Amino acid sequence: MILLDGKKTAADIKEEIALEVRNLKDNGKKTPHLAAVIVGNNGASITYVNAKVKACERVGFESTLIRLTEEASEEELLNEIAILNIDKDIDGFIVQLPLPKHIDEQKILMAVDPNKDVDGFHPTNVGKMALNLPTFISATPYGILELLERYHVETSGKHVVVLGRSHIVGSPMSILLSQKRKVGNATVTMCHSRTKNLKEITLQADIIIAAIGIPEFLKADMVKENVTVIDVGITRVGDSSKKSGYRLLGDVAFEEVAKKADFITPVPGGVGPMTIAMLLKNTLLACERANG
Ligand code: GUN
Repeated sequence: MILLDGKKTAADIKEEIALEVRNLKDNGKKTPHLAAVIVGNNGASITYVNAKVKACERVGFESTLIRLTEEASEEELLNEIAILNIDKDIDGFIVQLPLPKHIDEQKILMAVDPNKDVDGFHPTNVGKMALNLPTFISATPYGILELLERYHVETSGKHVVVLGRSHIVGSPMSILLSQKRKVGNATVTMCHSRTKNLKEITLQADIIIAAIGIPEFLKADMVKENVTVIDVGITRVGDSSKKSGYRLLGDVAFEEVAKKADFITPVPGGVGPMTIAMLLKNTLLACERANG
């Protein structure tokens, strides 16, 4: 069994990005600048956004964090987006999800300039991704592609089973892995909450991408020997023995599934750190596209 070490791979990618930033600076080019907007006080979201801002500092990017209160109106948020869209110094920005219930998420995502949409959530960029055109690939699917590539996990002709049909992970992952691309050319089955005989399907999988948000859902009796397992789940469960009061669980019963797997991602330290590295990569790309 080989552990797909997202923490180490993300560190490698960030080092590559830091080198590129030094090159840009040495050549008098613009320093990449990422902005993040967060609305409200969701603990997990604040942790993620802070990690993104800190990662920017580490690679030499500039960063701006915009915090709005839980009560902020949709109009206020749209106004912040309009300002970021025209700010020449901002190369890319994200609006951290989920948003409070009174704000229409789709309306917000559509207000972001597609050229600054480093999350790749705007319909224009989702459309380009689906057509295999150059765009921003969302950080989580992009991170999974990168992990598979760097560990030389063969996907061509393999049967990939994706668990979950979210717009952020399951849906783009199933599209990308079926495309004609370096990490692609797979036969993909997308499963979701209405799928019947799920175990029969997962037992046929060469690669499983678990992105359903149910802790330890995928058990050893659901996978075949030599499988590759990518665990996107990251659920906080109460644990009084931890200082934080919780621990993180993935969608995979790691200990038992790892015994049958050729490759598997841990939680934490697998897909999670990769998403931040790929967000930085998209921001670098946005900066280079905008400034030559
Ligand atoms: N919430 C969970 N994942 C993400 C992400 O990749 N981007 C944003 N903006 N919000 C998220």
